Amino acid sequence: MTIDLAALPQDFVWGTATSAYQIEGAVAEDGRSPSIWDTFSHTPGKVDGDDHGDVACDHYHRWREDIALMKELGTNAYRLSIAWPRVVPGGDGPANAKGLDFYDSLIDGLLEAGITPSVTLYHWDLPQVLQDRGGWTERDTAHHLASYATVVAERLGDRVQHWTTLNEPLCSAWIGHLEGRMAPGLTDLTAAVRASYHLLLGHGLATQAIRAAAPGAQVGIVNNLSYIEAATERPEDIAAARRMDGHTNRWWLDPVHGRGFPADMREVYGVELPEQAGDLAVMAQPMDWLGLNYYFPSAIEDDPTGPAPYAAAVRRHGVPRTAMDWEIDAAGIENLLLRLTDEYGARKLYVTENGSAYPDVVRPDGTVDDPERTQYLEQHLAACASAARKGAPLAGYYAWSLLDNFEWAYGYDKRFGLVHVDYKTQRRTVKGSGRRYAEIVREHGGGQRKAA
Ligand code: IFM
Repeated sequence: MTIDLAALPQDFVWGTATSAYQIEGAVAEDGRSPSIWDTFSHTPGKVDGDDHGDVACDHYHRWREDIALMKELGTNAYRLSIAWPRVVPGGDGPANAKGLDFYDSLIDGLLEAGITPSVTLYHWDLPQVLQDRGGWTERDTAHHLASYATVVAERLGDRVQHWTTLNEPLCSAWIGHLEGRMAPGLTDLTAAVRASYHLLLGHGLATQAIRAAAPGAQVGIVNNLSYIEAATERPEDIAAARRMDGHTNRWWLDPVHGRGFPADMREVYGVELPEQAGDLAVMAQPMDWLGLNYYFPSAIEDDPTGPAPYAAAVRRHGVPRTAMDWEIDAAGIENLLLRLTDEYGARKLYVTENGSAYPDVVRPDGTVDDPERTQYLEQHLAACASAARKGAPLAGYYAWSLLDNFEWAYGYDKRFGLVHVDYKTQRRTVKGSGRRYAEIVREHGGGQRKAA
């Protein structure tokens, strides 16, 4: 497929993304303490195949090889997350020198390779010691996030400019505290709403902390937003789609844009927020950019007996799907980029994740052919370029993911990488989609140079 990328700026950021628990392994090394994902994944029945992140892609030891892969792909940026329990094993309090040294070397290695790091502070791996004190349902956790942000920004802020406070807080709050499908595995609406509040408060406090420790830092938040349509024209389904939009999109966007929490959703949840004077202003710190993680669209119907927001996705027939059973529709990414531009006045946008899972196999000749993922990538990049043509200030795209990795409750079966990982040998093989991504980056004229 030929993709017209002319609308993307010349200094476009071409990256790949990963997160700490999904790739690092080395969970008990050099002073790292357990996170809620260690606890969750070691609880029988919580993760497919009872998989866990103990070894994962062994990136903690193989990071040099992984940087070489990024160079092979020709990308100019890499989005990684820091493991909070590696850097501040007690949750708050003293920093762990060895944990910080690891990220220090990784950042230096990236910069030496001409790859600009983009650092996420929180990609779901809360230190278990903080969960034992109530985790995100407690206000203190927001303050601990800010202290941890200070530790990391003081150490890396001389070389890292691009910072993300939270990755997909929706998953931490709704999937982790309401649906129970992710750590810490609760199914409690009050806990979920409190967690959502404290996560956004933590975002604001961490933004202030990063800026204080690293003046000039470019700080943003990353949300996994959903392109939502009503499944039918029934008024109940239209209202349900509006609720799902509130639950998935507006609840996370409005407070950080100074609009407070959406009144309709406060009513839907019926849970008192743990509000204190001044919190909303803290949540609404001006942001340098906004990150969008996009995977699939949803058609929504009314579900009065289901959990909040009493709305559910229907299975549309005849629609192509990935191995996650997620619908494929690149129009969703374009729609959301334009919505962030028009409705929220975004001045700088990044697609911070986008990708697809397929059951890849290494062929006898050692290659991995993944035409579906290649097509997904091309279609979504074309939609990003189309959004840019229509005025979305899109500054970069990070493919999810550099490597196959630990896909949370789905374990290792679901492969999202542009690079295949054989978990028995830790052998890495660039897939066809990875080669195609390299070609696109090259054709656009990007890669191996300055990124945002
Ligand atoms: O693997 C996850 C990632 O950790 C967060 N965003 C979605 C990806 C695919 O499910």
